[in-house]
Amino acid sequence: MIQLQNVEKGYNGESVLRGVNLTVNDGEYVSVMGRSGSGKSTLLAILGGFLQPDGGSVTWDGEDVYAMSAERMARMRCNKIGFVFQSFRLVNTLTVRDNILLPGHLSNLPRRVVWDNIERHAHDLAIESSLDKYPDELSGGQCQRAAICRALCFNPCVLILDEPTGALDAANEKVVMALLKRVNEECGTTIVQVTHSNIVAANAHRILQMTDGAPV
Ligand SMILES: Nc1ncnc2c1ncn2[C@@H]1O[C@H](COP(=O)(O)OP(=O)(O)OP(=O)(O)O)[C@@H](O)[C@H]1O
Ligand SMILES: [Mg+2]
Repeated sequence: MIQLQNVEKGYNGESVLRGVNLTVNDGEYVSVMGRSGSGKSTLLAILGGFLQPDGGSVTWDGEDVYAMSAERMARMRCNKIGFVFQSFRLVNTLTVRDNILLPGHLSNLPRRVVWDNIERHAHDLAIESSLDKYPDELSGGQCQRAAICRALCFNPCVLILDEPTGALDAANEKVVMALLKRVNEECGTTIVQVTHSNIVAANAHRILQMTDGAPV
């Protein structure tokens, strides 16, 4: 379970998130919508352990995220959390496969399972031929699917996705939506996604709207 209590965040004295209270239960699939600049990416970064809030608390299964040691955080990130950034954040000097395998030494999974996951998810996302290419040899939509593949390959308990279909055509959007639904239903993976698309939002169980600095 992910829990945010009274979370506050601002930049340069301007408040973005105000008194955010949010609980995401295990196995839930939640969408967050809202206008550009309303704080959706800020919210995801805070609940994914990437951005310390100015106030309030963030817990994963009762453990204070921002009190963890750097090593524990790195292990949790590899084994528990899959994160797809709005800007993908693929390392340009590594192939897609090496991008995926980068935190592999921290994984609790046998190497064989991770390799099988890479092949399976790359097949589902139709990016098999992109695995041994570098990110700047790929289209935006291929990079986006590579970032989704990377987030899935260590069997995360929680997937956090920032506009995961923003660079995709309608056919690939459907593929990604079906994959997320399947991972949620068959593996019980908790999903929090941000989207501007009503169709993609409706893939989830619950839709929240950023309103006055908080998702409601
Ligand atoms: N690192 C930063 N430094 C300063 N201001 C920032 C930073 N990151 C975000 N902001 C500001 O915080 C506000 C919320 O940004 P955020 O990226 O969370 O919005 P968003 O809802 O994800 O928008 P979009 O739909 O365009 O992705 C914006 O006004 C933005 O300019
Ligand atoms: Mg954003």
